[in-house]
Amino acid sequence: MIETRDLHRSYRIGKKTIEVLHGVNLNIAKGEKVFLCGPSGSGKTTLLYTLAGLERPEKGSVHIAGIDLYSLGRKAQAQFRNQSIGYIFQNYHLLPELTAVENVAVPGAIAGINRTEEAMMALEQVGLKDRADHLPAELSGGEQQRVAIARAIVNQPAVLFADEPTGNLDSNTSKEIMEILMKLTDFHNVTLIIVTHDQGLTKAGDRTLIIRDGKISE
Ligand SMILES: Nc1ncnc2c1ncn2[C@@H]1O[C@H](COP(=O)(O)OP(=O)(O)OP(=O)(O)O)[C@@H](O)[C@H]1O
Ligand SMILES: [Mg+2]
Repeated sequence: MIETRDLHRSYRIGKKTIEVLHGVNLNIAKGEKVFLCGPSGSGKTTLLYTLAGLERPEKGSVHIAGIDLYSLGRKAQAQFRNQSIGYIFQNYHLLPELTAVENVAVPGAIAGINRTEEAMMALEQVGLKDRADHLPAELSGGEQQRVAIARAIVNQPAVLFADEPTGNLDSNTSKEIMEILMKLTDFHNVTLIIVTHDQGLTKAGDRTLIIRDGKISE
């Protein structure tokens, strides 16, 4: 479902070059739940962005469901992302001026479809139906995270990327969010890649990848 070949990505600040991805090869099957671990600054977010079509690698390729992501034109790529990829950002990325249900309906709106009904259903799935009309500022951190999950699943993506979805949450809320994610992805046979610092959570996955020195090991 997700296949990468020899991914390279570095950042240059002044004269210094940081090699973040240094030849990453991955092969992830449909419906697999894969955890991605590694120290802070090791490139987890960079890798997720690259896999999701949000950051072009300097070298190498990403295939999702057989589609060569970076060979698509900008418009086709955005459309493919909208239809097939869900993304839960490390810091939620909710639009502050939109209510919870409006935020969840955004991917539909981008595709030119009114998805208010589906957005309400997605909010119900994450247990937040009664907060649908709250603005992000009127929600707790865990609730905002659940809105971000609902938004990521509303288009029923084949692949879901989650960047530390339980990062700032207490252990009970973390467990709850994790259970919601696992249940939803099981139900739709979604391929899930999820970043976490919490080794305790990785039991719920099929395998765990470690990123270190720009390379992946299992
Ligand atoms: N736009 C950028 N310009 C320059 N350097 C960057 C940029 N984005 C990331 N980096 C550097 O690349 C490295 C990898 O960053 P990345 O965000 O992928 O790490 P991470 O594994 O997600 O870390 P964390 O666990 O703290 O979220 C870091 O050393 C970071 O400083
Ligand atoms: Mg990160």
